[in-house]
Amino acid sequence: MKEITVQLDERSYPIFIGQGLLQQAGLLKPYISGQKVCIVSNQTVADLYLDRLQSQLTDYQVSIVLIEDGEQYKNMDSFNRVVDHLLEQNVDRKSTVIALGGGVIGDLAGYAAASCLRGINFIQIPTTLLAQVDSSVGGKTGVNHSQGKNLIGAFYQPSCVVADIDSLFSLSQREFSAGMAEVIKYGLISDADFFDWLEANTDSIKSLDKQKLAHIVARSCEIKADVVSQDEKESGLRAILNYGHTFGHAIEAAVGYQGWLHGEAISAGMVMASNLSAAMGALTEQNLDRIKNLFQAFALPIHPPASMSAAQMKALMLHDKKTIDAQVRLILLRAIGDAYVSADYSPQLLDKIITEALS
Ligand code: NAD
Ligand code: GLY
Repeated sequence: MKEITVQLDERSYPIFIGQGLLQQAGLLKPYISGQKVCIVSNQTVADLYLDRLQSQLTDYQVSIVLIEDGEQYKNMDSFNRVVDHLLEQNVDRKSTVIALGGGVIGDLAGYAAASCLRGINFIQIPTTLLAQVDSSVGGKTGVNHSQGKNLIGAFYQPSCVVADIDSLFSLSQREFSAGMAEVIKYGLISDADFFDWLEANTDSIKSLDKQKLAHIVARSCEIKADVVSQDEKESGLRAILNYGHTFGHAIEAAVGYQGWLHGEAISAGMVMASNLSAAMGALTEQNLDRIKNLFQAFALPIHPPASMSAAQMKALMLHDKKTIDAQVRLILLRAIGDAYVSADYSPQLLDKIITEALS
């Protein structure tokens, strides 16, 4: 088992990565303060993994709340269901909420834990690749609003994260690839050697080699933990974790959050951000091709949907949370492995990139 620490002074916490962790006796014990534990999950994940988790919680008073499966249920209705359940269970500040599932369950359960009694103990047990490498780490919690994604939420750190590699074997190939988009992101924004390693190990990652899976989860979590430790509430540096997301979130909104997974949308978005970086002279054509090839090797899209217009993309990009005073701030690359946040790009060049991508 590998352990990585998110360093946040008295709120520091470990991320455990390995095999067989869901049912590892005693692993969670130091992170559960009181007697009451509430597991938040959905039926899909519960059918696969709830028994394993419960086998290490026999000493506690455990209750379970299951939310319908899907991004469309990451909303205030589901949030209210979780909070109603917690209050019916008479939770106190020593009680613990455990999120067992992908990013939808993690974000929702985390926000309920942050809000109920102004904050009760929270543990993340991510079961998708995307959740293990990204959403379970760093404390962004929340739900969607009809006006947009993740518009309601709080920064609320878990007391630990348990990433059991075994859970990745039941994911569909498409969900696995969507998680790989975030993994490739870490190579692009912060670690050129990791990007090279991903290129060299594509086949064994796709065949779910356990050592390689453990490495990609661990390296991704190390990079995310390092960024979050420096800038927990995204006053600057943390925005680089959103590489390609300004374009990607616009794609998700344009298709009504249906038909495109988040990882797929940000894959096309990262290619657009890379195209802009190349047009600004920072990336060579050869490196731009390497980026596109790596996304394609994992069957990820490199173009936005044909149904979208350039005008729609530009309008939706203005809704990005990084936009300040109608100025869209973008994450750009100086090179593979070196990202920065900037509002200092040519709007004409951005227009050209958008128009070309959508022609
Ligand atoms: P998800 O939670 O919807 O999970 C994808 C699908 O896989 C679901 O149908 C789920 O039931 C199923 N599933 C989960 N684990 C499984 C397993 N082990 N085997 C088989 N099926 C399994 O989606 P996701 O991609 O995990 O997360 C996406 C969400 O994460 C979005 O809402 C996004 O906004 C959020 N997110 C949050 C952050 C953050 O920092 N908080 C970062 C990135 C993404
Ligand atoms: N997923 C982006 C962040 O956590 O900041």
